[in-house]
Amino acid sequence: MEAIKRTKVVDVLKSEAFGTTVNVKGWVRTRRGSKQVSFIALNDGSTINNVQIVVDVDKLGEEFLKPITTGASISVNGTLVQSQGKGQSVEIQATEIEIYGSADPNVYPLQKKGHSMEFLREIAHLRPRTNTFGAVFRIRHNMAYAIHKFFHDRGFFYFHTPLITASDCEGAGQMFQVTTMNLYDLKKDENGSIIYDNDFFGKQASLTVSGQLEGELAATALGQIYTFGPTFRAENSNTPRHLAEFWMIEPEVAFNDILDNMQLAEEFIKYCVQWALDNCMDDVKFLNDMFDKGLIERLQGVLKDDFVCLSYTEGIKILEEAVANGHTFEFPVYWGVDLASEHERFLVEEHFKRPVILTDYPKEIKAFYMKQNEDGKTVRAMDVLFPKIGEIIGGSEREADYDKLLNRINELGIPMKDMWWYLDTRRFGTVPHSGFGLGFERLLLFVTGMTNIRDVIPFPRTPKNADF
Ligand code: 4AD
Ligand code: MG
Repeated sequence: MEAIKRTKVVDVLKSEAFGTTVNVKGWVRTRRGSKQVSFIALNDGSTINNVQIVVDVDKLGEEFLKPITTGASISVNGTLVQSQGKGQSVEIQATEIEIYGSADPNVYPLQKKGHSMEFLREIAHLRPRTNTFGAVFRIRHNMAYAIHKFFHDRGFFYFHTPLITASDCEGAGQMFQVTTMNLYDLKKDENGSIIYDNDFFGKQASLTVSGQLEGELAATALGQIYTFGPTFRAENSNTPRHLAEFWMIEPEVAFNDILDNMQLAEEFIKYCVQWALDNCMDDVKFLNDMFDKGLIERLQGVLKDDFVCLSYTEGIKILEEAVANGHTFEFPVYWGVDLASEHERFLVEEHFKRPVILTDYPKEIKAFYMKQNEDGKTVRAMDVLFPKIGEIIGGSEREADYDKLLNRINELGIPMKDMWWYLDTRRFGTVPHSGFGLGFERLLLFVTGMTNIRDVIPFPRTPKNADF
């Protein structure tokens, strides 16, 4: 076959070089046609759209074309022509085809018919080849790029925090332990506690639940930083919104108070949504048309209005009034409760009909590092609540006062040997500072309209599931 430089499908579809010879390579989505002419829809992952290859059956031979079935990979030389058919601008009249690999239709699982999301999770190694997952993973890439761009353009530094750590940032005890010890022969002391002296790190170590604490060290030196990396939580919650391994973006800014923090969060998330509308429209539109007819409208919706800000206490009042007026929730509502996603979504979707930032939560349901309010009961926390998602961002102004922070650490019984380095930020040149964490997959749920978080990460890790 004549060697011609490959053009990606995304570029060929925009080309107007009619009459020239081009080469495209990709995977066959479908092949249909008659005895005389065969039409191949070819996709190479560069776009949701396929390029149509028109084949003169007599010229290439019926036998030769037989292995060109759904999933097969081919290289095509042909003439670029203006398309007669609806819904496409160009097509390629094949002159030569090379078959790289066939995909036996009797066993290749991704035949043309629609598959359930559950089935596709069982073949997560192949699902990127579907239109849906192609769209989702292209959007995922674009969102990651937008996030780096947002922070870089505003003078934030990307700071790498460790994945293996000896401290439990959120204090929720949901950590995966990292060890090289022989689990069949653990050495214990007289109290039955495991002795870690001979373990790899010489102490108990785990996968991080958040890069925040180290992020604060950086923010109180570089001014404004963000982290963007994987985090791990061994919470046994089998919900459409929880993963055991997920990616989190955590900006941390010196001299920002809670109001600055809220403003940054709103600006950031709107930037990401706008980016998706500006740069991923083909994929977003596909997902809108196939799965979620309200998607584009919802994305435009959050850009339109200011987010509503109110305190947790005011939020509880609204929920209690709703209950008094006959609305039923699965979980009870009272001051002090950790809100369930049904409560969050009621506030966002039914009461305010736009994103909500709830602030000043009871200290008992929030982490030790949050700035304590004068009332002695609440802390300067903020959660951003989104339609369809519930909590998409969690953050706070941090407690900058050494004594208050130390008191809280002691109250909660957090071992000091783990915290001395963190407390040093408050001992030496402490400053007011704030930050938050955005769950990357929660953002993707929102932007793609997917309903299960397992479908916006290539290889989901959830309780009892770590395949691929
Ligand atoms: O609210 P979280 O637990 O806050 C923190 O980890 C803070 N250290 C962040 C900070 O202030 N720097 O988690 C932050 C966000 C949540 O709002 C949610 O979007 C996401 O991370 N998240 C999860 N996403 C997927 N699966 C899970 N199991 C998640 N847990 C939290
Ligand atoms: Mg949270």
